[in-house]
Amino acid sequence: MRYPNLNLDVAHFLAKVWQVKPLLIKQAFPNFTDPIDENDLAGLALEPDIDSRIVSLHEQTWVVTQGPFEDFNQHCKGKWTLMVQGVDRWVDEISDLSRLFDFIPSWRFDDVMVSYSVPGAGVGPHVDQYDVFLIQGKGQRRWQVGSPEAVSEASPLPSLQQVRPFEPLIDEVLNPGDILYIPPGWPHCGTTVENCMTYSIGFRAPNVKDLLQPFNDSVLNEQNSQRFTDPNCIDPNEGTRTPSHNVSDLELDKLTDLLKNALHSKAWKYALLEYISDQQLPLEAPECEFTQQNIVHLLTKGSRFTFVPGCRPLTNNTFPNTIFINGVGYDTSARIKEQVMMLVSSNNPTALTHPIVQSEAVDLLIEWLNEGIMILH
Ligand code: SIN
Ligand code: CO
Repeated sequence: MRYPNLNLDVAHFLAKVWQVKPLLIKQAFPNFTDPIDENDLAGLALEPDIDSRIVSLHEQTWVVTQGPFEDFNQHCKGKWTLMVQGVDRWVDEISDLSRLFDFIPSWRFDDVMVSYSVPGAGVGPHVDQYDVFLIQGKGQRRWQVGSPEAVSEASPLPSLQQVRPFEPLIDEVLNPGDILYIPPGWPHCGTTVENCMTYSIGFRAPNVKDLLQPFNDSVLNEQNSQRFTDPNCIDPNEGTRTPSHNVSDLELDKLTDLLKNALHSKAWKYALLEYISDQQLPLEAPECEFTQQNIVHLLTKGSRFTFVPGCRPLTNNTFPNTIFINGVGYDTSARIKEQVMMLVSSNNPTALTHPIVQSEAVDLLIEWLNEGIMILH
């Protein structure tokens, strides 16, 4: 399924709106048609590998139930919402939908959460830590957005993280094809008017704590990790060493420099790129291994290979011949780089299906197919 371009002034949005203030874009998608329906969504929520939950408000009690689900009737009581995370990783059309937001760098993209809800339902007033574009599918939903200054916590359940009701700055009923952009920290509340589908295009922003894990991994992988040294450890002012119980600021600075040097290393840059390329894609190895022989046969027969839905390869100028996919850096060579880049940017492998396929490109294709990053159609 192909989508027309969004009815949005991207340059203005990036300069004045992104991360700054919420924006309602009426009819961003004129004639929007839902790529999936509630039955497809329920089907995904049956799967143990897919993160789903039902939030209901029944007889004045909030209940959050984590999927997978077998019996929906038991949980879909009162005012309920079914939410499924990472649908872009399973459904091509939802992955295509997220591509319309490619004016934001790929690595910032997190996933598409799809929800289905009945009249009066919602998850209550809350704040998210991430930017989100809420696309209204079929049905109608009222959205209220308040100011970040007005946020005060009031959680009936730890899993809901609701905030107290707020004075809305935006209070509108969304129709199919409308989009509401909400930056991190802005309280919002959606209340369904008419049975509806909502597509939440979510972005991520790592914090310092998140970055410590890849930092740790990259330092652990480094063979010759730099170590603290202190020759000539005389205090320049005193002409002697400070008392043994005292740690000098110079020593603290030198310890900090060890970390700074590691942070300026190429190894850290590589580890960071691997980390931010990690999408936790649900990869499945093919039943039969692809080999040089069968791949050339398949290519000449005109078979099509594409990346799995949702896959977003990354590149960086410091490592011009490396492509980072799902947490791994794959090295290509200057010779086939152009072809592979075409493949990356268009997800169209015809670049590699030229009659005289270069064996290096085929090797990479085989590696990606056997790891389940690419699939045969
Ligand atoms: C939804 O219910 O579809 C979206 C919930 C949210 O505001 O994050
Ligand atoms: Co939200």
